[in-house]
Amino acid sequence: MNTAAAVDLSVQVGALRLRNPILAASGTFGYGIEFAHLVDLNLLGGLVVKGLSREPIEGAPPPRIVETPSGMLNAIGLQNVGVRAFVAEKLPVLRKYVTPVLANVFGNTLKDYVEVIRTLEDAEGLAGYELNISCPNIKRGGIQFGGTPATVSEVVTAARRAAVNRPLWVKLSPLVADIGLIARSAAEAGADALTVANTYPAMAIDPRTGKSRLGNPTGGLSGPAIKPITLRLVWEVRKTVEIPVVGLGGVEKVEDVLDYLSVGASAVQVGTASFADPAVTRRLVDGLAEAVCDAKCFTINDIVSYFAAEIG
Ligand SMILES: Cc1cc2nc3c(=O)[nH]c(=O)nc-3n(C[C@H](O)[C@H](O)[C@H](O)COP(=O)(O)O)c2cc1C
Repeated sequence: MNTAAAVDLSVQVGALRLRNPILAASGTFGYGIEFAHLVDLNLLGGLVVKGLSREPIEGAPPPRIVETPSGMLNAIGLQNVGVRAFVAEKLPVLRKYVTPVLANVFGNTLKDYVEVIRTLEDAEGLAGYELNISCPNIKRGGIQFGGTPATVSEVVTAARRAAVNRPLWVKLSPLVADIGLIARSAAEAGADALTVANTYPAMAIDPRTGKSRLGNPTGGLSGPAIKPITLRLVWEVRKTVEIPVVGLGGVEKVEDVLDYLSVGASAVQVGTASFADPAVTRRLVDGLAEAVCDAKCFTINDIVSYFAAEIG
């Protein structure tokens, strides 16, 4: 008899085999360790830690998070302990788990990205890297690395040379004219997979003061509000490149996961939903197994083709 427990949820993302397609997204799950008492980390498909920079960053002034209709706006300012403290203090704890851990990497110069990856290359216990390219390039007047095919190629090429030992995922910025061109550029520069996508630049004003509701003037929009927009981006990227795509934006329910898988994502990440329910990732893994079972399928791939056939 087919039971949820017998269902095979495993997926392949390039060289990485994940026990299921549910990963925790960068910046919304701390360094993973903070959630270990709420979710059995070993049951997740993987987790992406908070973005890491060369030096520690204190982050943006408060408030850093505000709620918006169907979404959340954040301006954290990429606060983190810095790559060396991550390796010394967080990684030894994370190593005890079997779940693949990806390090999210960012910088303001090519040298920053390369330096962070080089420091991580010497450390044990990581399954791969995820490059956050939605950061301002200070050598090019603050324009995002992820904004043009040329700058994407530059940063991915540099990171690829440094990332000798592990898979390199590149997390695209959603705010570009043609996501297909950007995706192709990242793939040609050596990305092993693409994460689609980051938050959308946005604002929220307090009508009583006429000022931003955040400590910064602007922030990044996430949550259910962005899901239909990002779903289209994943579909577009899937049509353009051969490498695996990981979808993220507004995943809250099993249906959201199936939507992303149906348009060609190999796995999904869950961000904002963990704020409302810190155990949502675990709930999604269980719900997905039940959905596969209810559809009288045995593997996650069976149910995805089943849904694709339904959609036509
Ligand atoms: C509070 C917060 C912090 C984030 N920090 C990072 C980060 O450090 N690096 C990164 O690449 N993305 C970061 N993100 C973006 C998320 O990983 C994800 O791309 C985005 O929130 C969309 O997914 P969601 O709608 O499921 O939240 C952050 C998002 C939030 C809400």
